[in-house]
Amino acid sequence: MALPPDIVVLTGAGISRESGLATFRDADGAWARVRLEDVATPEAFARDPAQVHGFYNARRAGLAEPSVVPNAAHLALADLELRWPAAFLLVTQNVDDLHERAGSRRLVHMHGELLRARCVRCDADRPWTGPMDAGTQCPACLLRGGMRPDIVWFGEMPYEMDRISDALARCGLFVAIGTSGNVYPAAGFVAEVRGRAATVELNLEPSEGAALFHEAHHGPATRIVPAYVADLLARWT
Ligand code: APR
Repeated sequence: MALPPDIVVLTGAGISRESGLATFRDADGAWARVRLEDVATPEAFARDPAQVHGFYNARRAGLAEPSVVPNAAHLALADLELRWPAAFLLVTQNVDDLHERAGSRRLVHMHGELLRARCVRCDADRPWTGPMDAGTQCPACLLRGGMRPDIVWFGEMPYEMDRISDALARCGLFVAIGTSGNVYPAAGFVAEVRGRAATVELNLEPSEGAALFHEAHHGPATRIVPAYVADLLARWT
């Protein structure tokens, strides 16, 4: 009997949509309301820090809403990690904390986290749940004006790419969930592994990279992710 494959799961904003968090490129997404060039680039932060802080302060506060909780898709992935008899890594593009709150542990936030902050003066980073502005003092170096959301903006290098590349090189199964396949390097992972791993897309509708996946299930994440996880565990455990 074949051995169970190492798994890499990639998630995007679609997995958090049914928890009440907006995606980016859907009709009601974040980039339909504000230009990413104005709030999600280092140039925007240099040009108008107040607008950038305002955008992330609102999203950070939104995470604290009582109605925003992990959904069945987040919980199914935490269960899969716990029960999978081989290596498992969850790489998320999301900056919300719903995977952690669902119980995921082997987790990489390649685009950073809404609930963390970093000082550009001393580079210290830390958990951050409240608002932040240009006058916020860094608790480490005590300087002001250098605090920023610990989010990877367009044009910046995503976090933990070595760890992600290692996991991609070893995986036999790659599952992309709730991502439109528009933003690199994440959108390029499927092409990187498809010659040696089974690739599966779980998404509301076919993504930009749909043709690169060997298998696809389309529908809301809270329905198709638990079903896929149950089927995978039934096949291998
Ligand atoms: N269930 C499953 N998939 C869904 C659902 C749902 N309920 N609702 C939306 N989707 C799908 C959409 O069809 C779309 O393909 O989720 C995807 C969301 O795509 P984007 O809004 O582009 O989000 P994402 O792919 O995560 O964006 C990647 O772009 O803006 C940057 O840094 C930001 O991490 C983000 C990156």
